[in-house]
Amino acid sequence: MNAPLHTLRRHKLRLGVNIDHVATIRNARGGLHPDPVRAALLAAEAGADGITAHLREDRRHITDADLDALVGNISLPLNLEMAATDEMLGIALKHRPHAACIVPERRAERTTEGGLDAAGQHNVLAPIISRLQDAGIRVSLFIAPEARQLEAAARLGAPVVELHTGPYSHAVTEAEVAAEMARLVRAAETGAALGLEMHAGHGLTFDNVGPVAALAQLHELNIGHFLIGEAVFTGLGPAIARMRAAMDESRARGAAADAARA
Ligand code: PXP
Repeated sequence: MNAPLHTLRRHKLRLGVNIDHVATIRNARGGLHPDPVRAALLAAEAGADGITAHLREDRRHITDADLDALVGNISLPLNLEMAATDEMLGIALKHRPHAACIVPERRAERTTEGGLDAAGQHNVLAPIISRLQDAGIRVSLFIAPEARQLEAAARLGAPVVELHTGPYSHAVTEAEVAAEMARLVRAAETGAALGLEMHAGHGLTFDNVGPVAALAQLHELNIGHFLIGEAVFTGLGPAIARMRAAMDESRARGAAADAARA
């Protein structure tokens, strides 16, 4: 049963900064600049709680050398986004990041387009999740905000899921935004009731982060592309600090609204 709103304690909402697109810019020219490790160190100073990096099969942005350098040089917890493949499992077990987020990956996609089919891929995911967990790596599954995916994640024993906020972020009309937000609200409630730690991410910006950050069940948001783009205009530190403040303000407003209703 879902907890009544006023009994929900709002945890501090962690901000994981995804630095993939620092590497995208570097790779456009080759060479070493801009350096994802430098971005990760700056993110820590600016208020990030974690660093997220996706080592894709085609190494289009983060490379194996980047992963080595991140593991060796950053003090924030590292969340490695990875496909459910033997190659990525081996890399994760070698580096032992704080967390691994299993994502679907298709070579032709521009970014992670859909959520993981946790329901349909039980047999592929189960051994990978247990090997990661045995190594002390916290596993999350990046899934669409759907009850059947949440239930599948819980059956798989994943302690964390990250809700795909792409459809919410890309919704255009007010009705679409409201419908996608309602799916996130329902999923956050369902997931928390199943005992899952709830995270969310994809496509979040200063303009759309508020309602997501206010969801009491969430513990972490992972945000990348917008912050790296915004860094072109304001610098990375100020962009991250502004996102951190937007999340905190929205969460405080949500808590005040719950208290007023109680
Ligand atoms: N979470 C996951 C699982 C992702 O794959 C991505 C994109 O790499 C993000 C969060 C961050 O999305 P964005 O770069 O759009 O903020």
